[in-house]
Amino acid sequence: MKSLQDLPGVGPATAEKLVASGYKSLESIAVATPGELSAATGLSERAAQKIIIAARKALDIGFKTADIIYEQRLKVSRITTGSRNLDKLLGGGVETQTITEVFGEFGSGKTQLAHQLAVNVQLPVEAGGLNGKTLYIDCEGTFRPERIVAMANAVGLDTKETLKNIIFARAYNSDHQMLIAEQAKEIIEEEGIKLVIVDSVTGHFRAEYPGRENLAERQQKLNRHLHTLARLADVFNIAVFITNQVMARPDTFFGDPTTAVGGHVLFHVPGARIYLRKSKGNRRIARLVDSPYLPEAEAMFIITEEGIRDPEES
Ligand SMILES: Nc1ncnc2c1ncn2[C@@H]1O[C@H](COP(=O)(O)OP(=O)(O)OP(=O)(O)O)[C@@H](O)[C@H]1O
Ligand SMILES: [Mg+2]
Repeated sequence: MKSLQDLPGVGPATAEKLVASGYKSLESIAVATPGELSAATGLSERAAQKIIIAARKALDIGFKTADIIYEQRLKVSRITTGSRNLDKLLGGGVETQTITEVFGEFGSGKTQLAHQLAVNVQLPVEAGGLNGKTLYIDCEGTFRPERIVAMANAVGLDTKETLKNIIFARAYNSDHQMLIAEQAKEIIEEEGIKLVIVDSVTGHFRAEYPGRENLAERQQKLNRHLHTLARLADVFNIAVFITNQVMARPDTFFGDPTTAVGGHVLFHVPGARIYLRKSKGNRRIARLVDSPYLPEAEAMFIITEEGIRDPEES
């Protein structure tokens, strides 16, 4: 394992500066931007950039052959959603190394699913978890610990422990939200976080940049945020789960939902997208849309007091 001092151009003084500013590992430097690193350490942007490039090189982030990518893909692990149907749709559950976006109208189950994953990631691997903690970034004030308690009980986890393993951050505006994500690397390493949730990823951006005239700026900021999240997923081999509320357009349910309902946010960032819509009662239908490697398909699940489950007859 290489350390900071092994980087060309990083002497003991610089290494100390980096560590003092929270950049304790090559991974945390590799995912930083020159601006960020320079602001945090007082190094010039040029020097910061050199160090970032060196860290990426040391970690082998850059050109690689397909067998290496394949090997990296073999490390992808999955978190069960609580519904076999939904897991199957996703190729076994919510994946690490990528962003999973769930989008749908109000009440379609996005936040319930986020709560369920925050619990399930804590399960042992045999039970569909990753034995890890969650970083829960709540942008809407809809996180409910009572739901965590109910879901933890239902899967046989200790409720107090389960709550302790969810590190919670309330984001009050889009800048705050972006900052939390940018600073998350430290807590991810220290706490053994395996899942980062952002619920909802778009709410603040929509409120702060309304209308067509602000669309370009909004999208630019949002893209930066998504790239921060994508890098976290990739470098730390963790799952990132984001939600996005969109209007329902019943007339276009049978068309392409990604364009029909006003768009998804993962436009330029790779990842899985799940479109949720309401069905009868507590039933919900999930549709996987343009996955990089899985077929487009649908699955039905239900929302119960215990959490996300399969409908009875299946
Ligand atoms: N304890 C519970 N038992 C059963 N169902 C519940 C429970 N709590 C919430 N639900 C159901 O979950 C649904 C709400 O889902 P959720 O809050 O995840 O929607 P959402 O997609 O996040 O909506 P929004 O876009 O408004 O944030 C409601 O239909 C509600 O009935
Ligand atoms: Mg919600």
